Amino acid sequence: MRIRVIAANWKMYKTPDQTRAFFREFLPLVAQHTRDEIVVCPSFLDLPAALESANGSNVAIGAQNVHWKEEGAFTGETSVKQLLAYDIHYVIIGHSERRQYFGETDDTVNLRLKTALEGGLTPICCVGEVLEEREAGATEDVLRRQCVRAFHAISVKKAAKLIIAYEPVWAIGTGKTATPEIAAEAHAVIRQEAGRIFGEEFAAHLRILYGGSVKPENASALMAQEEIDGALVGGASLDPKSFAAIVKY
Ligand code: 13P
Repeated sequence: MRIRVIAANWKMYKTPDQTRAFFREFLPLVAQHTRDEIVVCPSFLDLPAALESANGSNVAIGAQNVHWKEEGAFTGETSVKQLLAYDIHYVIIGHSERRQYFGETDDTVNLRLKTALEGGLTPICCVGEVLEEREAGATEDVLRRQCVRAFHAISVKKAAKLIIAYEPVWAIGTGKTATPEIAAEAHAVIRQEAGRIFGEEFAAHLRILYGGSVKPENASALMAQEEIDGALVGGASLDPKSFAAIVKY
């Protein structure tokens, strides 16, 4: 009943030419694919090339961040209005790399999320524990805290388009995937917390993606879990064949 989302996070990879080359190869591979939503999130400078390449296809384009103010003196940031001007509706928010390297906090994640939802975007909000937290048995607490703070002062009505990505930080770019069982367990905690905050019906429809070393080889085992409603793919999404294989898990 939940349509899965297979999303690519290209991080700081690819030029416009490489973006066009990717779509030339990727689109024919997934042209018949209607089962899942397919989203590609390139860096901001590659958005025009991606939009032009994917125009009229079954692949949506998303951004990797958005600011909470409508406009203003915020060097290096991008507004909802600017994304909508490009007809971009998906946006990744609170990725662990933003939290780890660029001072993103639960509070700024909340501000970005609130603004994105108010502006009608479909945010993919990332949560996940670091290795020390998992080893200390704190995963559940961390996930609950991240959800509580991210969802603060957001109404269930506004939250309708929300997508969550569970990305255990220890599994990102490390080749260490969470086992399908570990991922499903974390998803269940997130869904329970969303249910507590937004209500059971909302939680039943909430799509929770898994991210962290998703590859063509492990995608189908992950997707076999009922709790897992798609994937947010980094490294393996850069190659058209490999991302297409994940889409078709
Ligand atoms: P990898 O797939 O490269 O581990 O990255 C996951 C990720 O961070 C997606 O947002």
